[in-house]
Amino acid sequence: MITYGLQQLECAVRYLPADDRYESMVYRRCGDSGLLLPAISLGLWHNFGDLRRWDQQRDICRRAFDRGVTHFDLANNYGPPPGAAEENFGRILATDFARHRDELIISTKAGYLMWPGPYGDRGSRKYLVSSLDQSLRRMKLDYVDIFYHHRPDPETPLEETMGALDASVRAGKALYIGISNYNVDQTAQASVILRRLGTPLLIHQPSYSMFNRWIERDRLLDALEAAGAGCIAFSPLAQGLLTNRYLTGIPEDSRIRTSVFLREEDLTDAVMARVRALNEIAGRRGQTLAQLALAWALRDPRMTSLVIGASTVEQLEANLGALRNLTLDDEELAEIEPFAVDR
Ligand SMILES: NC(=O)c1ccc[n+]([C@@H]2O[C@H](COP(=O)([O-])OP(=O)(O)OC[C@H]3O[C@@H](n4cnc5c(N)ncnc54)[C@H](OP(=O)(O)O)[C@@H]3O)[C@@H](O)[C@H]2O)c1
Repeated sequence: MITYGLQQLECAVRYLPADDRYESMVYRRCGDSGLLLPAISLGLWHNFGDLRRWDQQRDICRRAFDRGVTHFDLANNYGPPPGAAEENFGRILATDFARHRDELIISTKAGYLMWPGPYGDRGSRKYLVSSLDQSLRRMKLDYVDIFYHHRPDPETPLEETMGALDASVRAGKALYIGISNYNVDQTAQASVILRRLGTPLLIHQPSYSMFNRWIERDRLLDALEAAGAGCIAFSPLAQGLLTNRYLTGIPEDSRIRTSVFLREEDLTDAVMARVRALNEIAGRRGQTLAQLALAWALRDPRMTSLVIGASTVEQLEANLGALRNLTLDDEELAEIEPFAVDR
């Protein structure tokens, strides 16, 4: 007699995406390119490693796609352990999304430490080419839609790094090229090199939120507009600070307790006072704080998309609710301004 575990049975039931999945999502054009991205994309940095149940990861991805989130953002080192998020997402692709590959924009990146020795980090051609091959194997994909250099590497000539990105497109392993964490000068230089090579820069992925406004000071969106490139901001919820997560304490399953990237010391009195003030403004708009933070980060139409994280389906759903009201008038923006400062 054959017996099945619950998980195997669940996998055997074929996933059918929602028929209305394209009805409520807002899509924005990525720079001057032909590519549209959802205004809210899903990132797999946290919550998709081996410490989380795979069926919960799958449920978040399913719901995202059901709601029109066509873009899933990964990197070689997302986990833990590094590589695990690509493997786990590869399983979700195989079980759920295989028939829908042409409806998906899947990105990955290389630029941080991935394997030991001189070729597993930074920006050499050797590292980028090998890393992309590894990412494709982990996700069992022929190509990714966007391949990013994850951070600038001052020790490698920019021509070499951009040449490696261009080569990945020519080899059919990536459709578009992105850069992440580059400052405005590095962005302008990268864009010139890429244009000369014949593979224009599609997109930049910087950090940006009400608590992290460096891209405004550096006029990054102006530089990207001049380059014809789009922008997708990461950590628009400041890793959960710009939500109701920490309003009444620190939950045991929160990022502060489960990750080294957000710390209890980040919850200073000054930060929490701003969080409460912003939460009140959100409430008056009939929104959650997270929804207000997302609407605010999308207020410039040159911001193509925001890549959010979610540890539950409920968080994802709530955040997508931001799309119901993206309009902020001058009075509301002025009210927000004193509390939207770098922490
Ligand atoms: N290019 C880069 O260098 C870089 C760097 C960082 C991130 N990224 C990309 O950006 C993506 C998003 O980063 P992020 O996860 O830091 O983004 P985020 O959206 O600022 O933070 C997500 C976290 O906030 C909490 N949260 C989200 N929605 C919530 C809600 N409605 N209510 C309460 N809490 C909520 C959850 O934390 P809990 O775990 O506490 O539930 C969630 O994991 C990453 O996955 C990655 O793709 C890129």
